[in-house]
Amino acid sequence: MNTFSFYNPVRLHFGKEQISQLEVELPQYGHNILIVYGGGSIKKNGLYDDVMAILNKLNMNVFELSGVEPNPRVETARKGIEICKKESIDFILAIGGGSVIDCSKLIAAGAKVDEDAWNIVIKKTNVIDALPLGTILTLAATGSEMNSGSVISNEETKEKYGWGHPAVFPKFSILDPTYTFTVPKDHTVYGIVDIMSHVFEQYFHDATNTPITDEMCEGVLRTVINTAPKLIEDLENYELRETILLAGTIGLNSFLSMGSRGDWATHNIEHSVSAVYDIPHGGGLAILFPNWMRHNVSVNPERFARLATRVFNVKPEGKTVEEVALEGIDRLSEFWTSIGAPSRLSDYDIDDSQLETLVEKSMVNGPFGRFKELQAEDVRTILKMSL
Ligand code: NZQ
Ligand code: ZN
Repeated sequence: MNTFSFYNPVRLHFGKEQISQLEVELPQYGHNILIVYGGGSIKKNGLYDDVMAILNKLNMNVFELSGVEPNPRVETARKGIEICKKESIDFILAIGGGSVIDCSKLIAAGAKVDEDAWNIVIKKTNVIDALPLGTILTLAATGSEMNSGSVISNEETKEKYGWGHPAVFPKFSILDPTYTFTVPKDHTVYGIVDIMSHVFEQYFHDATNTPITDEMCEGVLRTVINTAPKLIEDLENYELRETILLAGTIGLNSFLSMGSRGDWATHNIEHSVSAVYDIPHGGGLAILFPNWMRHNVSVNPERFARLATRVFNVKPEGKTVEEVALEGIDRLSEFWTSIGAPSRLSDYDIDDSQLETLVEKSMVNGPFGRFKELQAEDVRTILKMSL
C-alpha cells in the first residue's frame, strides 16, 4: 500500500424520513439560508415542499437559486455567489444530484473570495475557507454528497474541470432513498455506470498489496451488478434504491482509495467530451471505459483477469490470462448495454470532426492516468475506438 492520511468529516443521515434531521442540523449555522436546486424535479416530487415546511418551522430567511444545469455552469455559480455576498448567507443547502451539489460547493468557496469563481476551478485562486453547506441528495451517482470534489463547466470556453478543497466537504448529507424514486430510467442507468466507473478508477491503481480495498471494490461492483437490472424494472423499489444509493456514496468517499491512488484517466477524457458536447457524464463513461480497458489490458492482464473472474463470473479454465481479461471487459460492455447505457459516441451523434479538440482538451495538463500514463496518441486511439 501507499502511505495515506484519511479525512472525511461528512455526517450522513441515511434512510426514510431522515429529512427531519434538518431541524437538528440547521439551527447552529444561522438564519440566512440559500437553497440551491436544479430544473424542477424537486418541485414535482414534493421534496421542495417538505424542505420549505421545515425551513418555515425553523423561521429561516430563505433565498433560492434554481435552474442549476446538469453539467453545472460557472455562470450559475456566479449568481449564487452574488446572492451569498448580498444577503449575508450563513448556510447553503444543496437539494439535488451531483450537479447541484458541485455548483453549491463552488458557491460556498466563491462567497469567501473576491476573485472570479472560474479562477477557483482552474486553481488560479487558492481556496482558504468556504461557507458551510449541507446536501439532500436526490440521485445516486457522483458521491459528491460525501467528498470534497466539484466538477464545473464553462460554456463559453467549452471547458469542464474538477477542483476540490477540504473546506467544501458538506457538513451533513441527507440520503432518503424515497427521494430517488422519481429519477427516470436513463439517469438511473447513468448513475449506475458512474458508480461502477468510480470503482474501476480506484481498482486500477499503481500500488501493491491492497487486499482490503480490492475486496471492497469487487463487493461493491458485484452488488451493483446484481441490483441494477432489478432496479431499472422497478424504479420505486425502496430496497433496490437504498442499495444503489449507498453504493454511490461508498464509491467516491475515499474509502476505496485507502492505500492507493486510482487512475482517473477515463474521467479526464469524459470531462473533455461532455465539455464539448454536453452529454450526461455516465453516458460518456459507458462509452469510454470499456475502450480504456481494451487499450490498457496488456499493462497488467492479471488485474483485468481478476476482475473478470471475481466480478463477471468468467470461467478461466482452458483460457490464457489475456483471454480471461478480454472476456471480462466484453461482459462489462454487455452488462451496460443490457441496462440501456450507450456504447458508442455515435449514439450521441458525435463523429470524428472534433476529435483533435477532444485530444487537446484531455491533454491540457500533460500526460495523465496512474495505472497507465496516457499520451495524446493513447487518447486519440481510445476516442477512435469509441466512435
Ligand atoms: O435538475 P433537476 O430537475 O433536478 O433534474 C435532474 C437532472 O436533469 C435529474 N434528477 C435528479 N434527481 C432527480 C432527478 N429527476 C427526477 N427525480 C429526482 N429525484 O437528473 C438529471 C441529472 O442530474 P445531475 O445532478 O446532473 O446528475 P449527476 O448526479 O449524475 O451529476 C453529474 C455531474 O456530476 C459531475 C459530472 O461530471 C456531472 O457534471 N461529477 C461530480 C463528481 C464529484 N463531485 O465528486 C464526480 C463525478 O465523477 C462526476 O464527474
Ligand atoms: Zn464520475
